Amino acid sequence: MSATALKTAPMPQDIKARKGGTPIVSLTAYTTPMAQLMDGVCDFVLVGDSVGMVLHGLSSTLDVTMEMMILHGQAVRRGLNSSMLVIDMPFGSYEESPEQAFRNAARLMSETGAGAVKLEGGSTMAQTIEFLSKRGIPVMAHIGLTPQSIHTLGGYKVQGRGPAADQMMVDAKAVAAAGAFAVVLEKVPETLADRITQAIDIPTIGIGASASCDGQILVVDDMLGLFTAFKAKFVKRYSHLGDDAKSAIDTYAREVQARTFPAPEHVFADEAPKQKAP
Ligand code: KIV
Repeated sequence: MSATALKTAPMPQDIKARKGGTPIVSLTAYTTPMAQLMDGVCDFVLVGDSVGMVLHGLSSTLDVTMEMMILHGQAVRRGLNSSMLVIDMPFGSYEESPEQAFRNAARLMSETGAGAVKLEGGSTMAQTIEFLSKRGIPVMAHIGLTPQSIHTLGGYKVQGRGPAADQMMVDAKAVAAAGAFAVVLEKVPETLADRITQAIDIPTIGIGASASCDGQILVVDDMLGLFTAFKAKFVKRYSHLGDDAKSAIDTYAREVQARTFPAPEHVFADEAPKQKAP
């Protein structure tokens, strides 16, 4: 049975209004066919900079460019009618100044048709979030594990344990006060995610956070079992498409080598088959 289909694509204010309501459903996508599968099922679809690791074989998200985001953003946009498109701002495209962030966010939105951008950072990005929000650019914030900062965070560790919890709460309140319409909480202890969700008036979107967040997001290739280089604890595999694809490719190779593919039904006769009389 398919999940409940949505009718028209939500806007950022619709997502914001879901605070405390029916959980917000979201996934990442990078291609048109995948976006078509989620259209109307996900409230929003994120073209995450995870595209660099998942589709381009990069070892982190740090080398993802504006051009990559735009290309994948356009592909995903073509697959969506009933879900909102959110696009990640890549590393180096927004941290320098609010003006730099505005220029690049405006380009991402106008060239892809995205309804909002997502950027990483808490209090330090509050001024930029306010600058963008007041100039027509809806911003989804992202705190906790922010993969663009792995070098300063010391790797892909859980964030906000012990005394760091207070700073995370400050960050969550700062992005909400700055005008973000939602905030992603990545790899944050469950009780802290619960407290943040209760403390702020914008939806929290959890990934490795808590079921009590206002919504959830996963990287689609992780949950489908297509990306298997590593699996984070917070990933649930709903399918094993990578194993299926590998077995199909191996079978194809064996059949080509045995000349059992193509079979008679896959090849063409010298003459076209006669058309049946109407
Ligand atoms: O890039 C990404 O896919 C993300 C999600 C994991 C939230 O930021």
